[in-house]
Formats: sequence, C-alpha cells, structure tokens
Amino acid sequence: MKVLYINANPRNKKSVSEEIADTFIEELKQAQGDVEVDYAHLYEMKLQEIDEDVLASWGKHRSGEPFTETEKEKVKAMDDVLDQFLSADLYVFVTPFWNLLFPPRLKTYIDSLCIPGKTFRYTAEGQEGLVEGKRAVHIEAVGGVYKGTGLNFSEDYLREIMRFLGIKEYDSVICEGMSQYPDMADKILEESKAEAKELANKLARME
Ligand SMILES: Cc1cc2nc3c(=O)[nH]c(=O)nc-3n(C[C@H](O)[C@H](O)[C@H](O)COP(=O)(O)O)c2cc1C
Repeated sequence: MKVLYINANPRNKKSVSEEIADTFIEELKQAQGDVEVDYAHLYEMKLQEIDEDVLASWGKHRSGEPFTETEKEKVKAMDDVLDQFLSADLYVFVTPFWNLLFPPRLKTYIDSLCIPGKTFRYTAEGQEGLVEGKRAVHIEAVGGVYKGTGLNFSEDYLREIMRFLGIKEYDSVICEGMSQYPDMADKILEESKAEAKELANKLARME
C-alpha cells in the first residue's frame, strides 16, 4: 500500500495533528506490513497557485496555441503535484484547524488536483470523478469543539472535494477541544490516538 502523507502544518515543532497522524502511520505499518509512505509537505514544497498564466495556459490547451516558457513551468509544477497524488493508494491529510478551515496551502494543493479530463469530467448527467480505487483519511487537531455545529468547514470541504474527484472512501479523526479544555488535553489526545489506531487496523483488514 502506498500512502501519501499530506502535511498542512507549517510548524517545526511537532503539532497535535502530526502526532496523531504518526501514530496512525505506525499502527498501519504494524498491522499491514507492506506500507510505503511518501510525503507532500505543503509548507516545504513548490505549490503553484491558479494565476493569470495558469488560466491562460488552460485556454491555450483547449485552442492548441503554444505555451510561453512561464506557462510551461507553472503547468509543470501543478502536474508534478498531481502525478505524486495519483501514484498513491491512500491519502492522509494532516491539518491544523485555522479560523474554521484548514491552512490556505491545502486549498492551493487541492487546486492542482482538480483538473478536468484528468481527475474529473462533466457529463450530461453532471460532474463525474475519475480518481478510482483510492481512499482518504483526514487527521485534524481543533482547539475548540465544533462537532454537530456545521462549522468545521475543513472537514466538510475535504470530504466533498474528495467525493468530487471520485474518492468516496473517506474517514476522519478529528481531535477536538485541547485548547478549550486544557485540563483534559492529555485524555483528549490519548483518545484521538486510540481512534487513529483503530482506523489503521480497520483499513489494514480491508486490504
Ligand atoms: C492561526 C490559527 C487559527 C486558529 N483558529 C482556530 C479556530 O478557528 N477554532 C479553534 O477551535 N481553534 C483554532 N485554532 C487552534 C488550533 O486549532 C489548535 O491549536 C490545534 O491544535 C492546531 O493543530 P496542530 O496542533 O496540529 O497545529 C487556531 C490556531 C491558529 C494558530
């Protein structure tokens, strides 16, 4: 199983979401054996935003006009991100919760994945995801507690954008409340790690 660990944490010091994600990966390796982990560190890698050049290149792709050198470079940066993504079987998105969403670099990353004709297409019946046979896991640390409020937009968005690409097998471990309830922080973290281990064992059994 090839895992892609997509880390949206800018910190050097180990964050809560990374600590839980590392527990998940370790457990998966123990339970499954044949696990290869590749990394996409969103604050260390080159990520290309959709800008004027990128939009121009998409227009030229349709019309057959040649790209400028700058357009070629930017399109290649986005293609490299997508190629790495498509080479994995299981995606582990590791995010802190910031201002009701995940960090903005993850949105830029996702913009490299949503490419018509490659990862989704429009049909007469509507949009259809083309990424088949993959699973996604979202591991997130949230300072407060939002479960049931509809305010965790990061979790809802990530699940829906995965579905948009055709990835319907989706699980999450959302560690909530360590900042809101500091006295219970250790217990909350241990419970989330236990949940991550359980999920790793469930996925290993399904392989
Ligand atoms: C820039 C920033 C924005 C944050 N926004 C929220 C928020 O909207 N709601 C919340 O409950 N916690 C918020 N927090 C707290 C984090 O969710 C919490 O510290 C969490 O543990 C971060 O994950 P990490 O430890 O993996 O970095 C924010 C923290 C930072 C640094």
